[in-house]
Amino acid sequence: MNIVLLGAPGAGKGTQAAIVSQRLGLPHIASGDLFRQALEEKSELGLLAKSYMEKGALVPDEITVQMILQRISASDCDSGCIFDGFPRTVGQAEALGKALTDQGKAIDKVIYIKVAEGELLKRLSGRWLCRKCQTPYHTVSSPPRVPGKCDKCGGDLYQRPDDTEETVKERLKVYFAQTTPLLDYYRRENKLAEVNGKLGIEAVAEQIINALEPGGRIE
Ligand code: AP5
Repeated sequence: MNIVLLGAPGAGKGTQAAIVSQRLGLPHIASGDLFRQALEEKSELGLLAKSYMEKGALVPDEITVQMILQRISASDCDSGCIFDGFPRTVGQAEALGKALTDQGKAIDKVIYIKVAEGELLKRLSGRWLCRKCQTPYHTVSSPPRVPGKCDKCGGDLYQRPDDTEETVKERLKVYFAQTTPLLDYYRRENKLAEVNGKLGIEAVAEQIINALEPGGRIE
C-alpha cells in the first residue's frame, strides 16, 4: 500500500506517519527528514537543500524527485510506504505517479490532515524533535517524559531552525500556493480522504486508520 499524508507545515504529518508506519509495518518516507539527514552529513545534496529550507522555499522538483525515487527503490519499500511531505507540487505528484505506474504500482490513498492556520503556528513554535530518531514532541500537547530527551531513544531534543515565526509564515505561503493544488489533483483521482487534524493525536490516527480500511471514506 502506498499512502500520501498531505497537510500544511505543522498539521501533524510526521506525527501521524510514525504511528501509521508502525501500525501497518510500512516504512515512513519523509522528504524533509531526508534533506535534514543529508545536511547533517554535509553532503552536496544537503548543502544545496539548506539554501532553500532556511528561506522556507521548496527544493526544486528535479532534486527532490530524484532523492525520493532513489529512496523508494530500496527493498524495504517493495510492499509500499507512507509518504510524508512528498509530493508537494503537481510536478512531483506526476513524477511519482509515473514512476509507480512503471513498476505496476500506484498511490492507494491520500490523507489530507486539515488544521486551521492559527493552530499550525502554535504547534510549530512549541515543537521539539529528537536529533537521533526525529520523533516530534510539543511543549504543551506531547511533552517528553524527561525534558530535552527523547522518550523512545534517549536522543537530545532540538528546535528546527525553520520553525521561527518569519520562516513559518513563508512556509505557509508556499504551502497554499504550491501544495494545495494537490488536493484537487488527488480528489480528481478519487484518492483523497480528509481528516480533522485539530483533534488529539490518537483521535487523528484513528480517523486515518479508518480511512485506510478497504472501502474507507473518500472525499
Ligand atoms: P518538512 O520537514 O516536510 O516540513 P513541513 O511540511 O513544513 O512539515 P512539518 O515537519 O513542519 O510539520 P508536520 O506536519 O510533520 O507536523 P508534526 O507532526 O511535526 O519540510 C521542511 C523543508 O524541507 C521545506 O520547507 C522544504 O524546504 C524542504 N522540503 C521537504 N519536502 C520537500 C518537497 N517534497 N519538495 C520540495 N522541498 C521540500 O507536528 C508539529 C507539532 O505539532 C509537533 O510538536 C507535534 O507534537 C504537534 N502535534 C502533532 N499532531 C498534533 C495534534 N493532533 N494535536 C496537538 N499537537 C499535535
